[in-house]
Amino acid sequence: MNPSDFWNDRYREESYAYGTRPNEFIAHSLQALAPGNIYFPAEGEGRNAVYAATKGWKVWAADQSEEGKKKAETLARNHNVEINYHVGNAMTYACPEPLDVIGFCYFHTPESILAPMYTKILDQLKPGGTVLFEGFSEKNLGLSSGGPQDVSMLFTEIKIKSLFSSFQNIRVWEQYIELNEGLYHRGTACVIRAIAEK
Ligand SMILES: C[S@@+](CC[C@H](N)C(=O)[O-])C[C@H]1O[C@@H](n2cnc3c(N)ncnc32)[C@H](O)[C@@H]1O
Repeated sequence: MNPSDFWNDRYREESYAYGTRPNEFIAHSLQALAPGNIYFPAEGEGRNAVYAATKGWKVWAADQSEEGKKKAETLARNHNVEINYHVGNAMTYACPEPLDVIGFCYFHTPESILAPMYTKILDQLKPGGTVLFEGFSEKNLGLSSGGPQDVSMLFTEIKIKSLFSSFQNIRVWEQYIELNEGLYHRGTACVIRAIAEK
């Protein structure tokens, strides 16, 4: 099955796969930042993008799923906000404006493309800009809260520190949390979270 078919099938379901509320860590982190231009690669059904728009951010999102875009645009309409949503591979999408923040939220890729993907996306961040990151840790293997069950697609603190190694004020940590995000992120999970400045 083509990966975008998998995600289109998931997002064709009536409910929002990861809920309509933003990821807790992304929402909490944005409270400390002055609104500007923000980009969410692999944004799915738009929960973070729409939240950021309601807080005054100018928002871009990209995802390979056309169905994700439809759900995101519906969510944006329901909140009376606008987001710019591109359907396609996040590896090749270039935001048209310089970015103050990039938010990676559960953007898991095959290990072979992880560094090129994240590096290419992070090239678009302004000097002084902030990257936010949350994804499942390798220690999430065997837990039933969601996410890939293939260790090569999961994160470690070392992997994330290496992706952000040219950044400043890097904070990366591993944490057990209780996920309550839609139907597909539920229960005890082990995640990696990170914030860093370019
Ligand atoms: C677990 S979902 C997370 C969605 C969203 N970030 C959230 O937290 O609600 C992973 C998303 O990554 C997207 N994705 C994976 N690889 C991609 C790529 N190369 N380009 C664009 N989107 C991609 C999928 O289509 C899917 O929507």
